Amino acid sequence: MKNVMDRRGMLRNGLLSLGGMALAPHLVNGASMNKPFKLDSKNRLYYSELNREYFLENYDEVKAFAKLNANENPYGPPTSAQKAIIESVTGGNRYAWKELYTLVDKIAKKENVTAKHLMMGPGSSDLLEKVAIVLFMNGGNIVSADPTYMSLIRVAESVGAKWKAVPCKGDWAHDLSAMENAIDSETKLVYICNPNNPTGAMTPAKELMDFCSRVSEKVPIFIDEAYMELAYGPQAVSMVSLLNEKKNVIVARTFSKIMGMAGLRIGYIAALPEFIDKISVVTRGGMGISLTSVHAAIAAMDDSGFQDMTKTKNDEVKTYLVSELAKMGYDPIPSYTNFMIFPISMPGKEFLGKMQDQGVGVRAFKIMDKDWCRVSLGTMDEIKLFVSALKGIS
Ligand SMILES: Cc1ncc(COP(=O)(O)O)c(C=O)c1O
Repeated sequence: MKNVMDRRGMLRNGLLSLGGMALAPHLVNGASMNKPFKLDSKNRLYYSELNREYFLENYDEVKAFAKLNANENPYGPPTSAQKAIIESVTGGNRYAWKELYTLVDKIAKKENVTAKHLMMGPGSSDLLEKVAIVLFMNGGNIVSADPTYMSLIRVAESVGAKWKAVPCKGDWAHDLSAMENAIDSETKLVYICNPNNPTGAMTPAKELMDFCSRVSEKVPIFIDEAYMELAYGPQAVSMVSLLNEKKNVIVARTFSKIMGMAGLRIGYIAALPEFIDKISVVTRGGMGISLTSVHAAIAAMDDSGFQDMTKTKNDEVKTYLVSELAKMGYDPIPSYTNFMIFPISMPGKEFLGKMQDQGVGVRAFKIMDKDWCRVSLGTMDEIKLFVSALKGIS
């Protein structure tokens, strides 16, 4: 029985790190719990004065007909990647060095950087965490928006960093001038998630480019672009080109979203070679990635058909959801991602329970004194189920 409970706890805590305001399960369950992962008096996960998250103790029991809680790609993995996995599995007795170099070269070409600018990891989470460990093992502070994706920040706090949280602007973009003002002599990193999670909002490209270009002369800037390929319009600009101007930026990307490979665990950072060297202290540079996942990633990169299809379907589902939410009087934040967040008029935990009872798994937050539902954009059928569940409880 104890094992079952432990497993449930682990699943729940693991879930909380997926596609959300990440919590590393080992830290939740482990001795470091006292600091970064505290719960408030209502048993909500406490991120900051502005920002908490609800969870259900019995989450792993959800009969999720529509699993819309971790911003996964419902169409993946691409058939091309599946085929590559099957064909490469017999090579699994060997480490994947050669294949990894092929993948790194391919990514270098795509990002217009050299292989020395890149570090691969089993998911970008792994690299976010390693950057946090290396930069903050001797203290310091990290500046970021609030709300934002918490993975790097939580690990930074767990090794002794102080988090300087800067509220987002009224349109949910990063408040870059307030962030710049928050930097002091102890600041070791600025973290920017663009598009941001959990809001789905985008910070204007030119403002961000100017900010990164100028401020990175003082302090490194980490730009988490997990959802960039799903964004659209003139603001959807990666900051990776700043590396060619030798700016001290670190850009994180993942195969978990547009490539549909969350469970296959592949991500990378692009940074100045000297920054990559620094992080190498705590990583075996790609040793964490399985041969089959490397082959899958190579195939997925070439599969522009799959990526285009994902984007088209994601946009169709988004348009449908926006119109259904409007009919019901909900007011979502415009989303540049594969998820959407909107205020609800019910305590978040009750909302989660009612959705779960109908087989729909979502996330619920308390942000700036309002309760919010964050729903991942699943398939059209899944989102229709979500809409009908929402109608059932409104
Ligand atoms: C903003 C953001 N960054 C990073 C990640 C981690 O992705 P992965 O570890 O699967 O690459 C996520 C996952 O949802 C995310 O939302």
